[in-house]
Amino acid sequence: MKVAVFGAGYVGLVTGACLAELGHDVVVRDVVEDKIDSLRAGRVPIHEEGLDELLQRNRARLAFTTDVGEAVAGADVVYIAVGTPPTYSGDADLSAVWTVVDELPQVSGRIVVAMKSTVPVGTGRAVRHRLDDRGLANVGYVSNPEFTAEGTAVRDFLEPDRIVIGAFELVDGDVIAKLHEGIAAPIVRCDVPSAEMVKLAANAALVTRISFINEIANVCEATGADVTTVAEGIGLDRRIGPSFLRAGIGYGGSCFPKDSLALKQLAANSGYNFQLLNAVIEVNELQKRRVIGKLERRLGPLRGKRIALLGLAFKPGTDDMREAPSLVLAGRLLSEGAEVAAWDPIADATAHLHGVAVAGSALEALDGADGVVIVTEWPEIRELDWAEASKRMRGNVVVDGRNLLDPAALRSLGFVYEGIGRPV
Ligand SMILES: NC(=O)c1ccc[n+]([C@@H]2O[C@H](COP(=O)([O-])OP(=O)(O)OC[C@H]3O[C@@H](n4cnc5c(N)ncnc54)[C@H](O)[C@@H]3O)[C@@H](O)[C@H]2O)c1
Repeated sequence: MKVAVFGAGYVGLVTGACLAELGHDVVVRDVVEDKIDSLRAGRVPIHEEGLDELLQRNRARLAFTTDVGEAVAGADVVYIAVGTPPTYSGDADLSAVWTVVDELPQVSGRIVVAMKSTVPVGTGRAVRHRLDDRGLANVGYVSNPEFTAEGTAVRDFLEPDRIVIGAFELVDGDVIAKLHEGIAAPIVRCDVPSAEMVKLAANAALVTRISFINEIANVCEATGADVTTVAEGIGLDRRIGPSFLRAGIGYGGSCFPKDSLALKQLAANSGYNFQLLNAVIEVNELQKRRVIGKLERRLGPLRGKRIALLGLAFKPGTDDMREAPSLVLAGRLLSEGAEVAAWDPIADATAHLHGVAVAGSALEALDGADGVVIVTEWPEIRELDWAEASKRMRGNVVVDGRNLLDPAALRSLGFVYEGIGRPV
């Protein structure tokens, strides 16, 4: 088939590359000329495992453009994969989605617009009305939400747990199902609002598990239990399962914070107070700040203290800094009067962290530090020469915000080690 993908971001590029891998002809359209120029020159503007190779391998079936007409000409399917960031009210900002809907030219024959962007329930109906108002009744609409995770997005796309297809007209859903031929996964066929809700509810379920295990960790700290053992013990229960039971300093990223907030606001706008989700969000906010208390207990007032932050991207395997816990931590440390040095193996933090010394290596960030916080569980941080690190630091406090390191090994090197929900 011929596919146009609007949005050359984390989702749009992976979608375009993977659909080309399945044998389709794909044109990716973005409004940012630099991005399109880079892609045309074979440079991938984001860090995503396996994406470069996939784009290279399928070059003959992939084109990049800023031109709407060029993207849509002859297309069977138009994917919308533009950003839907939060507004001040917490609702999703759909302005980029509406721009795409309004930019769609008249087409002969039937084409399908498929929504990959994460949108509030009800968006599909509103888009349907807008398409009809514009005289585009021959443009079908399908909600085909995306569940890929940054860092493993290519694999997640090609080997998904499920494909969700919500359509107003069965034939349009059939087109999207056919597009995914070659991928072995259960397909959930449903109405558009249910497909929209599957995406929001899935992310709400995941953040609920994260805040749950973080609260268990906090109670472990107060009672002397070890959350890593507790998580293993409960994760082996088949009714519960092991994933998303890793205690830490809270979730961040381009999806979880905004999607949980958007669902909370969607419920509130519909007259429902989603109490559980409110608590999940609040727990996450507080969790990021607990690190400051841990540092203060060890170092006293943080004014004038030098703190190193290791790992800045919101999770390993990506360069994405959107809503990263490192941003909150850096801000809190600076407002306490600490000097902050920071390092990440991939993410370019200079544009995001003002007033922070961004180091060229982990050891450089640790030079003269009184304490270090592990913010993102990059393997490079686990494999760091911690004996050398102890020589470079002025102090010896390690707050392991991801329970990445072996406490006994660190303590044997003379560090005062504190994890999350682990005995001190
Ligand atoms: N990032 C993820 O892992 C992920 C996973 C699942 C779902 N989602 C959802 O997918 C959507 C996209 O997320 P993302 O992380 O790829 O965002 P992104 O910010 O990386 O990419 C969005 C792209 O859309 C482009 N754009 C804006 N207006 C446009 C227009 N009119 N035409 C064409 N392109 C336009 C932007 O320039 C940008 O390159 C969001 O709704 C997000 O919630 C993201």
